[in-house]
Amino acid sequence: MTIPVQRPCLGDEELAAVRQVFESRWLGMGAFTQTFEERLKSFLGVRHVVAVNSGTSALHIALRTLDLRAGDEVLVPTLTFVGTTQAVLMAGARPVFCDVEESTFNLDVEDAARRITPRAKVVLPVHYGGTACRMDEIGRLAARENLRVVEDAAHAFGSSYQGRKIGTLSDITCFSFDPIKNITCGEGGAVVTNDPELARRAVSQRMLGISKDAWSRQDASSSWSYDVVGAGYRYHLSNINAAIGTEQLKRFDVFKQRKQEIAQRYDDAFADVEGLTLRRWHPQETCPFFYVVRVLGGHRDDLMVHLKDRGIVTGVHYIPNHLHSAFAEFRVALPVAERLGAEILTLPLFYEMTDHEVAVVISAVREFFGVSRTIVALERRKDASREPDRAPAREGM
Ligand SMILES: Cc1ncc(COP(=O)(O)O)c(C=O)c1O
Repeated sequence: MTIPVQRPCLGDEELAAVRQVFESRWLGMGAFTQTFEERLKSFLGVRHVVAVNSGTSALHIALRTLDLRAGDEVLVPTLTFVGTTQAVLMAGARPVFCDVEESTFNLDVEDAARRITPRAKVVLPVHYGGTACRMDEIGRLAARENLRVVEDAAHAFGSSYQGRKIGTLSDITCFSFDPIKNITCGEGGAVVTNDPELARRAVSQRMLGISKDAWSRQDASSSWSYDVVGAGYRYHLSNINAAIGTEQLKRFDVFKQRKQEIAQRYDDAFADVEGLTLRRWHPQETCPFFYVVRVLGGHRDDLMVHLKDRGIVTGVHYIPNHLHSAFAEFRVALPVAERLGAEILTLPLFYEMTDHEVAVVISAVREFFGVSRTIVALERRKDASREPDRAPAREGM
């Protein structure tokens, strides 16, 4: 048995929705995309949702809505997926890498404040693992320094900050719906804003700058004619992907509840393990995207091998971006992120993970640190009543 680090939960509902798209014979952006956008709007409580084909595309066009000039600076935490940094570069701006907090791994707002120059135009917080950044402090910093806020909420769909849903907190928020995200479209993303002008610009850029997409033009009341009103990309979300996302959204609450339960079980099981430090997250407000621990004493890679030998797949999220060769030009010393980069390990966490699988992971980790407990047998008995596992597969980063 292999336990993957993450795995999407896909079922008959998604298949039936895709079948409907096939039957409609309209595979590209269309009615299913519109429905997905409407459902996201009411779920998040926002005015505008622009569905796109990935989280990276969402970040790219979100930044492009802000009229950045070449050389403008975007403050970005270094501990993120490279898509964040690449989107900044794609938008023609310069990433200013910032350090992260030791406790949450989110942007260290004080460190970001120290790195502000007259070229700084945007602060781009990433809600690491689904845990909201200090959005009040970020909002105050942005107001004081005249910065726009673009949130990378790729990990944080369905999380909130002080009772307010992520997506409603700043100028513009970007989600990813790639295969392993809190909900998936297969591949997909969304730009979310309450600002009609930013939404209009995002809509125009998502489809090559064309004033009316094919779906609007096929409506009998619309004319066949269109104009190209500016630069744009081919970033729209297809009906196929939107149909999957719409079904996933219906099941979000159960996904969230189970993932919270597993993350809390890990927290309880590892609280007394001396070789580990646990990341702080807010159980009521967070839909945990993944579960990351810090492995102390230089033992991270050994633990990884120990778990692999027992069929448990783990990951490292992430190599701090300023250490990648492509971003060497922007490199500065970021001591907390560099330390975390050598210590972090992502353990398996996904909706369909059984209690038995959770217990196997816990036992294997505790065994590594010499604090093994025989809980596996107990959990196996509890699991007997649960559904058999679906075929394991691991996808995405
Ligand atoms: C923090 C972060 N930002 C951006 C992205 C990019 O999203 P996508 O893979 O949908 O392009 C990801 C994807 O893993 C991510 O984790």
